[in-house]
Amino acid sequence: MGDVVAAGALLSAQLAVQVLDVLPGPLFVVGPDGRLIYVNRAAEADLGVRREKVLGRFLADALYGGEKFDFRGRYRSALLETVETGREFSLRTVEVKTIFNRLPKTYLVDTFVLAGPDGKMLGACAAYHDVSRDRRLLKQAVISRLASASEHFETIYAFAEAIGARDLYTMGHSEKVAEYARLIADQLGLDDSEVDRAYLCGIVHDVGKIGVPEDILNKPGPLSPDEFAQITHHPDMGATILSHISWLEDVVPVIMAHHERYDGKGYPRGLQGEEIPLLSRILAVADAFDAMTSDRSYRKALPLKTALDELRRGAGCQFDPRVVDAFLSMLDNYEN
Ligand SMILES: [Fe+2]
Repeated sequence: MGDVVAAGALLSAQLAVQVLDVLPGPLFVVGPDGRLIYVNRAAEADLGVRREKVLGRFLADALYGGEKFDFRGRYRSALLETVETGREFSLRTVEVKTIFNRLPKTYLVDTFVLAGPDGKMLGACAAYHDVSRDRRLLKQAVISRLASASEHFETIYAFAEAIGARDLYTMGHSEKVAEYARLIADQLGLDDSEVDRAYLCGIVHDVGKIGVPEDILNKPGPLSPDEFAQITHHPDMGATILSHISWLEDVVPVIMAHHERYDGKGYPRGLQGEEIPLLSRILAVADAFDAMTSDRSYRKALPLKTALDELRRGAGCQFDPRVVDAFLSMLDNYEN
């Protein structure tokens, strides 16, 4: 009888492993001591984690170079935090370094404590959702954190999409700017709500382009002074539109100043240095980086190294040097 029970347990364990192995997102399980006891196939395929190298090892050693905490003293791994503190997470945003990309990949992670029938902790599990496969996931996570404002966010988001659809060469641009902006804000040590706000500002930063004619937005050649003047109105136009939504009042000055330059040569007001809100200075770097690394009507995307050199060159004149430093060190953190 004991053999039958043992065989049944083994069979259900094998079945569970087969099911976990076909999940589309990475999944990790650790034992109560934080050692990895299971890694699914998606973790190998998406993150380049090799089972034979990591199983049985302490998670921080296997995946985080032995560093349990980040520079702010936070757990690098939500899963390790869960197993060590019992705190579970739902759709927590995490950046993961992979062997395939120089830029970190953003995932949303859910973690759970695994407990036996007697309530004793057997370990913990983390399931990852790849944001690059479905960018709406990240938006929904930010929405759920800004819960009271969620309906309004949907409206604003739909609006930002409509603007993106008019501007052929910036399709998807707002989302990428938003993602870079939140990475930079996080690297600068801003608190979680400011990091979310940085993301939100990225999504809506160009809504004022609704006031700029499409032929100017999509013009392949250089702009005439009159056309450029029309472009320079979009930060104020965006701020005016957003100012009608009361919960966005913190965002309005950020949008108004997203084309100001650190040296005072930007538009529309020629603000300089610390006069420019920090989130606007962050947006400026995120915006420029995405513009340089995307195909445009008048040129192909620049190589990553060229784009980074441009950011370095612009530090102290076009950009806040502290923000450029944060962007570069964020990349260094993830460089392999
Ligand atoms: Fe803009």
